[in-house]
Amino acid sequence: MSAIPWKELTDAASRARIAAYAPYSSYLVGAALLSSDGRIFAGCNVENASYGLALCAERSAVAQLVASGQRSIIALVVVTAGPEAGSPCGLCRQTLSEFATDLPIGLAVAGDQAPRVIKNLRDLFPDPFRGDLVK
Ligand code: THU
Repeated sequence: MSAIPWKELTDAASRARIAAYAPYSSYLVGAALLSSDGRIFAGCNVENASYGLALCAERSAVAQLVASGQRSIIALVVVTAGPEAGSPCGLCRQTLSEFATDLPIGLAVAGDQAPRVIKNLRDLFPDPFRGDLVK
C-alpha cells in the first residue's frame, strides 16, 4: 500500500465533523478511515436525548466501512474541537481493534490541514479483548 493520504483523510473527517449531531455536548467530532482498497469512509458523532446512546464518530465511520463490504482499516484520522486534539475513547479503541491491529491514528483539530500527531492503536490499546476467545 502506498503512502497514507493524511490530508485527504483530514479533509474527509473535517467535513463529516461539520455534520455531527451533538446538541447536548456541542463537542463535534469527525473521523475518516482508509480501507485496504484505498477508499475513505467518514463518520461523525450522533448524540441522543438519552445521553448514554451517543455514537462516537469513529464507530460511525467503522459502520460505513463495514456496510460497504470492507473489513480492514489501514489508517484513521479524528478531528475534534481544540485547543487540544482528542484521542479515541476506549469503546472505539476496542471496536477499531476488530478490524485493525497496527493502525496509525492521526489526531487533528478543526481547521488543521493534516494531523498534528500520529499515534498507533497498538500503543493506545495494547491488549484488546480477542474474538478468537469466543469462537
Ligand atoms: N466522542 C466521539 O465522537 N469520539 C470519541 O472518541 C470520544 C467522544 C463524542 C461522543 C459525544 O458525542 C461527544 O464526543 C462528547 O463526549
